Amino acid sequence: MAANAPPRDADAASRPMIEIVDLQKTFGENKVLTGINLKVPVGSTCVILGGSGSGKTVLMKHMIGLLKPDSGKVVIDGEDIVPLSVEHLQRVRAKFGMVFQAAALFDSMTVFENVAFPLRQHTKLSEDELYAKVRAKLDLMGLKREVESKFPSDLSGGMRKRVGLARAVVLDPKIVLYDEPTTGLDPITTDYVDEMILAAQKGLGVTSVVISHDISSAFNVADQIAFLSKGVIVENGPPEQLRESQQPAVKVFLETWFGKN
Ligand SMILES: Nc1ncnc2c1ncn2[C@@H]1O[C@H](COP(=O)(O)OP(=O)(O)OP(=O)(O)O)[C@@H](O)[C@H]1O
Ligand SMILES: [Mg+2]
Repeated sequence: MAANAPPRDADAASRPMIEIVDLQKTFGENKVLTGINLKVPVGSTCVILGGSGSGKTVLMKHMIGLLKPDSGKVVIDGEDIVPLSVEHLQRVRAKFGMVFQAAALFDSMTVFENVAFPLRQHTKLSEDELYAKVRAKLDLMGLKREVESKFPSDLSGGMRKRVGLARAVVLDPKIVLYDEPTTGLDPITTDYVDEMILAAQKGLGVTSVVISHDISSAFNVADQIAFLSKGVIVENGPPEQLRESQQPAVKVFLETWFGKN
């Protein structure tokens, strides 16, 4: 389990890859984030939990510079990205892989071309080198050779997610952001996606942020769980801390989940 993984080196393990400082964001009258503080250490996995509309996706969009805060800092790998221009942000975004909720594959491209796409855009590799890189990531996600020539419409939901994950890590990003990677999947496929998230962390050393509705999945992958409610993080720590939380919003969330599952 992620929480028990030995840190590769003590300095790297405690240095934040992502640090959010006093972040605020309002849309019109809607105060969505009113003072977010969060640190995600290098090589660790942070799960963000919270009710629907609590601002999880808005927070994640700030991490990759898709939204600018009204105030506060978003420090990525030591650099505050808030003041950066669009051009400079492109450089920072090359450090990220992002897995969208609906896999967001290109329907007209084969699995191979979907995963190769970021490499064709950002590198000048030969076809042989390109194939080797794509194959390595498909292997990591447990996708066999015969899948390469298939189109997304030929695949199950779980397979599409795995292709989306392979594409998100093909440029060897330092950070991978996952927005609801297991929503709508059956329990077995959910377990598989959890394993893939852990494989990306252990095999590639990536720092991950995972938005989830699924508590058991969160407990499987998280080193740290941050619970978002009413614009702030009301609980933040290892999974055990969340389980024992006395915060009313957290207690209701956990009781509702365990009542249903
Ligand atoms: N671009 C935008 N313009 C205006 N309001 C927005 C924008 N993006 C998000 N919001 C609002 O911000 C709030 C938080 O939205 P967000 O999508 O972050 O919620 P969430 O926690 O991800 O919810 P869910 O679990 O349903 O995905 C919502 O009230 C939403 O309507
Ligand atoms: Mg969302």
